[in-house]
Amino acid sequence: MEENNRPQLISKEDFLSIMDSELNDENSYLAGWYPNKIIEGKGIGSIRPWTKEGRKHHNFTHDFYTALVWLKLWKLKRFENTAWNLDENIIKKVSQHLKTLINVAIDEIDEIEEVLVDKGDVKDFFVNYDPQIVAKYTATDYLFQNITNRKIKNVLDFGSGLGRQAMQWDTGVNLFSIDAIQSLYLLQNRIYSILFPDRLIEYCANKEAFSNIDLSEDKNNIYHMPTWNMDLIPDNSMDLIICVQVLNEIDEKTVRFALNQFKRIARKDCVLFVRDHENYTPALKTRVGKILLEHGFECVYRYQGLASDMEGVPRVWSNSGYKSSLKNRVKRTIDYPNTYGDFLPKAIIKSIYYKLRDIGLPI
Ligand SMILES: C[S@@+](CC[C@H](N)C(=O)[O-])C[C@H]1O[C@@H](n2cnc3c(N)ncnc32)[C@H](O)[C@@H]1O
Repeated sequence: MEENNRPQLISKEDFLSIMDSELNDENSYLAGWYPNKIIEGKGIGSIRPWTKEGRKHHNFTHDFYTALVWLKLWKLKRFENTAWNLDENIIKKVSQHLKTLINVAIDEIDEIEEVLVDKGDVKDFFVNYDPQIVAKYTATDYLFQNITNRKIKNVLDFGSGLGRQAMQWDTGVNLFSIDAIQSLYLLQNRIYSILFPDRLIEYCANKEAFSNIDLSEDKNNIYHMPTWNMDLIPDNSMDLIICVQVLNEIDEKTVRFALNQFKRIARKDCVLFVRDHENYTPALKTRVGKILLEHGFECVYRYQGLASDMEGVPRVWSNSGYKSSLKNRVKRTIDYPNTYGDFLPKAIIKSIYYKLRDIGLPI
């Protein structure tokens, strides 16, 4: 099918009219980032996707370019020094998907507005772009997402950027891609229309399809939808929820909304994969982990190397049904070895002593 004839492809007007009709005083906080200096975006890259200008839709080539520039290759290259044995198949397919998009961007280079960026520079950037680095970066996420080795059928990617996760979860799963920011939302819509035209179900083009979502075993759709409609996702349905570089950048009310939704839609033992700079939380006064514990998630893996190794700290949470009570929270803090079921004050003191002594040791 010709891309222009695809019923799921939307325009800026389609997105704006959905926003206008569905946002009100109660839910409008779900539509964007907490106002902060980064959004003001003076000086460093005022067209970057997180700035006021960058949040506006321009055209595919422009928005794809700014999203790729944001993924800083010089930083991501550091993964080459880490020990992970990445899945070559994943690297290959993400690279291929990126190459397809790069070719479309080059074909549409004339749509670039010279006042914002130089057409020649953009073309050089795309021609010389090495998709392998982002592909490896994405495959690293894949490795951690599969750490519990559970069967994954339904995946949710919250804050999807340029749709990297869909590029690796590209067969056999239903994928829910959630975003709220105009430029990124429209970019994702176009990317999914190019790469997965037969799988895409777009909320802004086909609202009706979301009133009765069918997640039977033989389905492998991509549901693309705005954050404020997450309550349309069926209860108890997700096997994997992905939050890469997003929870620490949005406001607290939105984080609490998202985590409540995650709890509602997570199946038992659903994996919640979070990667971000935990201590960089401009809009958060609470810790995401604390809320997750209260919701009955357990942290089953936390990367112990440096956050700069992988652009943030990968954490894997599982919806284990852990009961958060005062007694359990105290127990967790002390976490002493009680092999014989006895309460041994000496063992508790020793375990706290070792924890304190080992702080910062490269072990
Ligand atoms: C730093 S990017 C990370 C993109 C992607 N997860 C990745 O790692 O490639 C942050 C993403 O969160 C999205 N975002 C911002 N506010 C949001 C909100 N209220 N609801 C959902 N997504 C949001 C942005 O549009 C963007 O796609």
